[in-house]
Amino acid sequence: MRFVLLCLSLTLTATPSWSQETLGLSAPEEVASSGLLQHILPRFSLKTGIRVIAEENGVMSLTSAPPGDPVFARDGTIYHLRITDAPKQERFRDWLLSDIGKRTVESFAPPQGAPFSASFETAAVDDVQEVEGDAALGQDLSLSLCGRCHVVGPQNRMNGLGSTPSFAVLRAMPDWSERFQAFFALNPHPAFTQIDGVTEPFSPERPSPIHPVRMSLEDLEAILAFVAAINAADLGAPLQFQ
Ligand code: HEC
Repeated sequence: MRFVLLCLSLTLTATPSWSQETLGLSAPEEVASSGLLQHILPRFSLKTGIRVIAEENGVMSLTSAPPGDPVFARDGTIYHLRITDAPKQERFRDWLLSDIGKRTVESFAPPQGAPFSASFETAAVDDVQEVEGDAALGQDLSLSLCGRCHVVGPQNRMNGLGSTPSFAVLRAMPDWSERFQAFFALNPHPAFTQIDGVTEPFSPERPSPIHPVRMSLEDLEAILAFVAAINAADLGAPLQFQ
């Protein structure tokens, strides 16, 4: 009798799908090291029998910028899931976007840092995708031009100057857009910032005290598109001030 039960439980647990392909999922370092994937992937696998493992160069990827489906957010960054047309990958995406998937993401208590949020205003996310191209350029420009003083996002979390407000904090201000549009005229920036065709050249008596920030108005537009996107969705969790 006991033997029969054992056989039965073996067949029940060893469902055939486990032996099928494993889907790899790659993620940015800050997500990979947060422990989130170790929390959600086994839960998805248990439910569906589809095995997903964290893996560099996986068939599916999480990225900190569009394209893809926005699936969760942390510290002002919205993470997008990119999949290819395959039923199992679609199943994973649908699960992440479902109430159960979202609850699973939000129930994860990271050993360090803020929790992940999975509640989005879909309308706001549509706006984000509209400015997609520029926002991606804006992210690069923000990191290269502003990132030596400002924490722009998780990518340069360790590099900002402590006394300088992070972009996430600035973005939370109701008049963030005016401030960014005029940043080159607001201290301390005029001393080191030149915008082609907008600002006067530095006077020879007062050269820039530091390596200057040089950019065009298009660059500033791209930065605005990026800043608009970093928090356009209702992230549903309080901003983390550092
Ligand atoms: C050399 C350091 C440095 C660089 C580079 C820098 N900033 Fe700043 N920024 C600061 C500091 C410091 C403050 C805070 C000023 C204050 O609190 O009075 C600030 C404040 C701001 C503010 C808020 C201004 C206000 O008065 O409300 C905006 C917007 C801003 N920065 C945008 C940018 C953008 C965009 C870039 C890149 C194109 C950039 N900054 C590059 C140091 C820098």
